Parts: sequence; C-alpha cells; structure tokens
Amino acid sequence: MRLKKVVFPVAGHGSRFLPATKATPKEMLPVVDKPLIQYAVEEALEAGFTELIFITGKTKRAITDHFDQTLEIGVSNMTDKKKQLFDEMNNIIPKSASCIYIRQGEPLGLGHAILQAKPVLGDEPFAVVLADDLIDAKPGVLKQMVDRYDDSNTSLIAVEKIKKADSIHYGMIEIDSFNKALANIIDIIEKPDPVDAPSDFGVVGRYIFTNQILDYLAKTNVGTGNEIQLTDAIKSMLATNNVSAYEFLGTRYDCGDKLGFVKANIEYALKNNDFGVELESYLRNRLT
Ligand code: UTP
Repeated sequence: MRLKKVVFPVAGHGSRFLPATKATPKEMLPVVDKPLIQYAVEEALEAGFTELIFITGKTKRAITDHFDQTLEIGVSNMTDKKKQLFDEMNNIIPKSASCIYIRQGEPLGLGHAILQAKPVLGDEPFAVVLADDLIDAKPGVLKQMVDRYDDSNTSLIAVEKIKKADSIHYGMIEIDSFNKALANIIDIIEKPDPVDAPSDFGVVGRYIFTNQILDYLAKTNVGTGNEIQLTDAIKSMLATNNVSAYEFLGTRYDCGDKLGFVKANIEYALKNNDFGVELESYLRNRLT
C-alpha cells in the first residue's frame, strides 16, 4: 500500500525548553527563519506524503495558524522579493496535500499521541515525524526511508550512533549487524542507563510503521514517566513482526534541547545565502 499519511505529534510539554515553551509550541521555534514544524512538513512533502496529520494540544494553536492561508497581501505596492516571500508562505502546503488536526486532550505520551490518529489512519501504513529532531539531509531522511520501505514493506525506525552516556535520553536498540544501512531490531529499551544499553544506536524521530503498531499501542499500559510509550509498543510488536533500524544519512540536531537548537541555528545560518559569509567572519573574529 502506498504511503500517503504522516503523523506529526506536536502536543508535548516541551519542558526542556522552558520558559520559551510556556506559551509557544516548541515546534514553532525558528531555526534561522523557519519554524521546526515547517522543516518537518517540507521533508514529508518531499517524500511524497499527501495527508498531514497533526496531533496538537493546549498552547499549540500557532501550529494550525501557520499552515493557514491567512495573509492579506496588498500585492500592488510590493517589491518582487517580498511578493515571492508571501507567495511561498501561502503555498507551504500544495493543493495536492491536506492537513488534518486532531487534539490530544492530555499529553499522555508519544504513544498516546500517535493513537489519537487511529480514526484517520484506517488500515494504512504511515510515517511519524518528530519535528524537534531536525535533520539536515539530501534527500531528506523520510524520502530515504520511503525508498527503503518500498523495497521491504516492514516497519522502519531511524537510528544513529550516540554517545553511550546519552542513552538515558533515547530508545536504545539491540540489533543484528547492519547491511546497507539496515539491521533487524531484536529488542528496544526506553532510556536505559549506559550500562544497560544494548548497543550504541539510539532511535531518532523518524518512523514508518505498518498498521499493526496501532493494535500494540492500544494494548500498551502507562510506562516510563507515566506516559504511554511508543517504545513499549514497538517492543511488543517485535514478537510478531520484523522491524528494521535504518542508519540514515544526514546530520541531526536535537532541537528539543537548548544546546542542540543553538547548534542547528549556527549551522543553518552559516549556510544562509544572505548572511552566512558575514556570520562566519563574525564568529572567526569573536573566537580568536
Ligand atoms: P518529547 O519526548 O520531546 O517530549 O516528545 P516533550 O513533552 O515535547 O518535551 P520535553 O521532554 O518535555 O522537553 C517527542 C515528540 O512527541 C510529542 C512532542 O510534541 C514531540 O514532538 N508528544 C509528546 C506529544 O505529541 N504528546 C505527548 O503526550 C508527548
């Protein structure tokens, strides 16, 4: 079945980024001039997804507004550059794609957020993108994964090598060996201590799931942090389904974390056509 649906869970607290996220969604924080959620949506559109399902919650209204066509433009007296910018803003979502917004009444965890999309997912496979994992990649990671999914039709989870000491922040996987960037997942553990981490590979925020994951999510009890954990549902699914780890090509920035977010801004700003060169010279002077 062709992949059309992608879920963006955006209802989390964003507590690591307080006070910025007290009234502003974490996913609306800009990297240079674009909010994180827009990078995520553009990655999904590039990969061919046409049904964009946002799981939103309290204080997240700005996300819904962002993808609306609400700008009233007095086109007549506008410079060409400004007009182009306004056109781009009003066309983030092409006519061929549609947005669906579902509320997660209470942030009971990532697994619970994904489960809210069940009524619109039907029996189709789908992708999940966590916008706070910004990944600089060409082609985008979701496109890389769709190509792999088309070959295998099994669930795929993006992973990367992390410092073992950081395992307490990740779902950590046990795998057999990688072959052409893919490995079978044998086990998965949510945020283990470094000594208990089964490998150096941690899960990052890109997934493609066969529809069975929804059955496992529905049966998953509250776990770590009093939340319904996606990791626990994946662990149960491993008993009956193949799930592969995909070691993606690209550079990830954890933008749910302040330092990761600052690094992303520096890297994306250095690549900016208008001021990247000037910024580089500023940084060189500043650091000598
Ligand atoms: P995080 O683990 O980063 O949680 O969620 P969080 O609550 O957003 O942030 P911190 O840890 O408090 O700083 C990963 C993704 O899952 C979504 C978040 O919005 C984020 O995109 N999420 C999480 C939900 O949609 N609902 C939830 O109940 C929890």
